Amino acid sequence: MDNNRAQWGSRIGFLLAAAGSAVGLGNIWKFPGKAFEGGGGAFLLIYIVIVVLIGMPAMISELAIGRASQANVVDSFGKLGHKGYAWVGWVGWLVAFIITCYYSHVGGWVLRYVAAYAVQSAEVYAEPAGFFYKVLGLDAASGTGFMPWMTLLFAAVFIAVCAFVIIKGVESGIERFNKFGMPALFVLLIILLVRAVTLPGASEGLRYMLSIDGSKVSGQTLLTALSQAFYSLSLGMSIMVTYGSYLPRKENISRNTFLVCTMDTLVAFMAGFIIIPAVFATLGPEGVGKGGGFAFISLAGVFKAMPGGVLFGVIFYLLLLFAALTSTVSLIEGIVAFLTERTGWNRTRTTIICSAVMFLIGCLYTCSQAAFSLKGIWFDFANGFTYPALCDAMEFLTDRVMIPLCALGCCIFVGWSWKPKSAVDEIERCGIRFRLAKAYSFLIKFIVPAAIIVIFFVSLFTGTTLS
Ligand code: PFF
Repeated sequence: MDNNRAQWGSRIGFLLAAAGSAVGLGNIWKFPGKAFEGGGGAFLLIYIVIVVLIGMPAMISELAIGRASQANVVDSFGKLGHKGYAWVGWVGWLVAFIITCYYSHVGGWVLRYVAAYAVQSAEVYAEPAGFFYKVLGLDAASGTGFMPWMTLLFAAVFIAVCAFVIIKGVESGIERFNKFGMPALFVLLIILLVRAVTLPGASEGLRYMLSIDGSKVSGQTLLTALSQAFYSLSLGMSIMVTYGSYLPRKENISRNTFLVCTMDTLVAFMAGFIIIPAVFATLGPEGVGKGGGFAFISLAGVFKAMPGGVLFGVIFYLLLLFAALTSTVSLIEGIVAFLTERTGWNRTRTTIICSAVMFLIGCLYTCSQAAFSLKGIWFDFANGFTYPALCDAMEFLTDRVMIPLCALGCCIFVGWSWKPKSAVDEIERCGIRFRLAKAYSFLIKFIVPAAIIVIFFVSLFTGTTLS
C-alpha cells in the first residue's frame, strides 16, 4: 500500500464522513416532496428496494475502485490497468466542480437563515417570501433588483469553513469535523421529529406517509426514486472513489456500504416524517413542495404558523447547515485530491484557489435576482438572458447527463472490464468474507447498468423532469 496516502483514522470516522457526504440538502428538501408526490408509503417502499438493489452495488463498486487503485478518481482507472476509462473520472470530477459552485452558495443562504432566525429577525418571520427574494437580491415589494452583498458574505464564510476543514487534512479535518457534525445532525433531527409529530393535525400527514397508495405510483415514480437515490448517496460524482481510496484494507467495504446507505435513507425518511406532518398541520397538503423555494419560503411559513416557530426555525436551518457543510466538504475533497495528486500542488494553496474560483462562479447563482451597475454597465440577472438559461443548462448537464454517465461508466468498468471478481477480491482482502458476492456480481453486471440506461434515455429523450 502507498504509505504516503492519507487514511481514515477509524472506522467510525470513515462512516460518518461518507454518511456526511450522502446526507445533504437532497435528503431534506428534495426527498419529502418526492415521497409525497409518489404516494407516501408506496414511494418509501420503492425507494428502499432501489437503494438495496441499485444504490448499494454501485457504492460498493465506487469504494472498491478507490481502495484498489489508491488513487484519485481520474487516475484510478489507469492504475487498475484500464486507462481508456479515465473519461469516467473526468466526468465525475467535473460534476463535483459544477455542483460545488451552487451547493456552496445555497449553504450561504442557509447560514443567513440561521442567523436571521437566531436574532429573531422580524423580516424572515413575518414575510418569508419577501425575505427569500431579498436574500437573492430582489426587493419584492418594489420589484427592484440590487446586489446581495450580505448573502455573498455568508456564502464566502460557508465555503471558507469547508476549505479550512479540507486544509486540515483527511483525518484531522474531514474526519474530526464529521464526528462532531453528524451526531449533532441526528440530535437536531430527533428534536424536530418529536415537535412535528406532536403538532395538532400532524396525524393526517403521518397517515399519508404510512399508507400505501398504489394509484400514485407510475413509471415516473420509479425514475424519480432512482435518480433521487443516486444523488442522495453521492454516487456518480467521484466522491466515493476518493473516500474509498483513504479506506484501510482491513475495513469491510460491503458492511460499511450497508451502514452508510442505511444512515442516508434513515435521515431521508426522518426528514419525510418531519416535513410532511408539519406542512399538513400548518399549511395543509397543498403546501408540500420541494427544492429551494419550498425550503426557504414554504417552510419558513410553517415555522410562522407553528407554536415556538422561531426556536424550531433555528433548529431546522441549523440541521440544513450541517447537512450542507458535510456534503460540500466531500465535494471539495474530491476536486482537491485530484488536483494535488496530478500536479503535485500543495494542498492548502490548491484548496484556497479552487474554493475561490468556485465561489466566484457560484456568485451568479446567488445574484439570480440581482440588478446592479458596474463601471457604468448595467447587469440585470432576473431580466437578462444569461442567468436562467445558464442555470437550466448546467442542471440538465449534471443531473440528467453527467451523473448517470459517470455512474454507468463505473459499473460497466467493474462489471465488464475490471470484472466483478476483482472488486470481490478487493473486498475480501485481509480475510474478510463477502457473503453476497454472487448477488453483487449479477447486479453490477446486468441490473445496475440497465437501470441507469433507462433513467438516462427516458429523462433525456422524453423531457421528463426527474427532480
Ligand atoms: N448527497 C448530497 C445530497 O443528498 O444533498 C449531494 C451530494 C453531495 C452529491 C456530495 C454528491 C456529493 F459528492
